[in-house]
Amino acid sequence: MCAYFADAGYEVHGLDNNQRAAFFGPAGDTRWNQARLEREVPGFVHHEKDVRDREGVLSLVGDLRPAAIVHTAAQPSHDRAAAIPFEDFDTNAVGTLNLLEAARRSCPQSPFVHLSTNKVYGDRPNTIRLKELETRFDYDDEAFGEGIPETLPIDQSTHSLFGASKVAADVLVQEYGRYFGMPTCCLRGGCLTGPGHSGVELHGFLSYLVKCNLEGREYRVYGYKGKQVRDNVHSRDVARFVHEFLKRPRSGEVYNLGGGKANSCSVLEAFSLAEELTGQPQVHSYVEENRVGDHVVYYSDLRKMRQHYPSWDVRVSLRDIVSEIVAGWRERLGR
Ligand SMILES: NC(=O)c1ccc[n+]([C@@H]2O[C@H](COP(=O)([O-])OP(=O)(O)OC[C@H]3O[C@@H](n4cnc5c(N)ncnc54)[C@H](O)[C@@H]3O)[C@@H](O)[C@H]2O)c1
Repeated sequence: MCAYFADAGYEVHGLDNNQRAAFFGPAGDTRWNQARLEREVPGFVHHEKDVRDREGVLSLVGDLRPAAIVHTAAQPSHDRAAAIPFEDFDTNAVGTLNLLEAARRSCPQSPFVHLSTNKVYGDRPNTIRLKELETRFDYDDEAFGEGIPETLPIDQSTHSLFGASKVAADVLVQEYGRYFGMPTCCLRGGCLTGPGHSGVELHGFLSYLVKCNLEGREYRVYGYKGKQVRDNVHSRDVARFVHEFLKRPRSGEVYNLGGGKANSCSVLEAFSLAEELTGQPQVHSYVEENRVGDHVVYYSDLRKMRQHYPSWDVRVSLRDIVSEIVAGWRERLGR
């Protein structure tokens, strides 16, 4: 996101405190990426701040009065949230409120884009009839042939505490649009990834899977026979959509942003692709019990995004995403 917008001519300020390392340990450390941005992105300024620090966020946004805010900081894992409920909610819900209110006070005309998640739909996508194919499950209901639309209800289902804190943030972002008329939108992400991801077992599926492949480390599959399906989108395509939104902002919008059906894969299919691209076997084991509330099949219906922003589409294919992740990890791991 930072590199993309610097390329597009923006002066980019990043707010991060490497909390990912606190959530996931050293493997989640994002300092390498911060250092890369400071080294390679002209004009990039890092601010060592915590989104939970209300006064700090209010004063930073007040000083900068940014032309746009892209909010990507989060505790991003389902399973981790259960162990750290206060940190999860304070980061995801309260941190988002801090940024929204800072924007309302200092730059209410500036577009505010929030990275929400498909987990706001809870496990409701699991109520859709499925068919079992050789390497994946798929929807067996024409109404969802293109994937999950934004009209799917978000309550009365199991979300995980992470999904619940992200629902709170998602609804707040919508409300600052609807109630205050600010140009806000929620992007309900499928799997957002790329070579910049610090994938760990609890978050960052493709990144972690490729890392395991290259290190010959065992990847654990949790339930659903490895036929669970996710749609994957490159961070560059995410940034390109955000750019379209900044050029023609709307108010209180929600979009399901993933790679769509064309960029979807099951865990088993991801193993094959990684093996093909690295030339190394994927070592894995199988745990019968699925993760609580985990989607069996999820891919985003992209039609609303394409209709509102016709010049946007997914450009980076699944194969190219995995190739870039392989190249990225080879460089970082020296393999
Ligand atoms: N990657 C995905 O597959 C995916 C899917 C759906 C939604 N999302 C959402 O997209 C956003 C970005 O995801 P990502 O994969 O880049 O996550 P990430 O964990 O790689 O990046 C989040 C960044 O936020 C920082 N951060 C966390 N807590 C912070 C705090 N309290 N103060 C300041 N910085 C903090 C972390 O250090 C990290 O650098 C998140 O909101 C996430 O929920 C991601």
